[in-house]
Amino acid sequence: ASTEETKNEFPIPAGVFEQTVTSVEHFTDRLFKFRISRPSSFRFRSGEFVMIGLPNAEKPVFRAYSIASPSWDEEIEFYSIKVPDGPLTEHLQKVKVGDTVLMRKKPTGTLVNDALLSGKRLWMFSTGTGIAPFASLIRDPETFEKFDEVILTHTCRDVAELNYGKELVAQLKNDPLCGEFAQGLRHYCTTTREDYPFQGRITDLMASGKVFDDLGLPPISPEIDRGMICGSMEMLRDTKAALESFGLVEGANNRPDTFVVERAFVD
Ligand code: A2P
Repeated sequence: ASTEETKNEFPIPAGVFEQTVTSVEHFTDRLFKFRISRPSSFRFRSGEFVMIGLPNAEKPVFRAYSIASPSWDEEIEFYSIKVPDGPLTEHLQKVKVGDTVLMRKKPTGTLVNDALLSGKRLWMFSTGTGIAPFASLIRDPETFEKFDEVILTHTCRDVAELNYGKELVAQLKNDPLCGEFAQGLRHYCTTTREDYPFQGRITDLMASGKVFDDLGLPPISPEIDRGMICGSMEMLRDTKAALESFGLVEGANNRPDTFVVERAFVD
């Protein structure tokens, strides 16, 4: 091999899978998705996250990424922000089909069906790349076995940032196998910095009641509704407070309750 080819070759750390990129799609200058091959021994629950990195240093930088594909899928999908000087994303945003991505072996997370008590309606609240764990869960039939109705809310700064979710839901509803179970899914999109039929932060839309009017649903109640939240730290704090104001209680894997929270990947 030439010097050019070998200069970026570092030993693969212990406890990680070395996987191959199978597809890359850029949505905006801030957002992209990519898929990697799935190790045959890798098991996870839909909604969990895993640490990923690149083989570009002696000690690669690893970051937590929600797995956006469902647990039955033969590939692993991720949905990522691109941060210009982000220690991982400045390199990750340049990955191409055939490149290597490192993935730690142990998935974990609280946005899983097991962490919620059963209920009638599941609300998934997301902003930005916080939609990723829900991209996994809405493609898993188990979610619809547990809930009659699933409402995925997604709020982004502008309209183009909603496209990943819109494509996903359209594909899901048209899929011959998944389409049937996904009939109970409703997708509620809003923007905060560009004109769109539905506008505003989800926290404000819950406080005013507009989201419930728009969907033709009663306000959230602990008897019927369950919640999952994924977004920035501030969004988690404010959405959690909103759900608590409706009487919901935060749960965990070892203590299921009426809502669960997880921070979206940031840099
Ligand atoms: P806003 O435009 O008013 O800040 P980001 O890309 O910065 O992560 O933001 C994604 C979306 O989350 C934006 O629409 C943003 O609205 C919204 N957002 C930011 N902070 C909060 C919060 N504390 N509660 C609810 N939504 C939020």
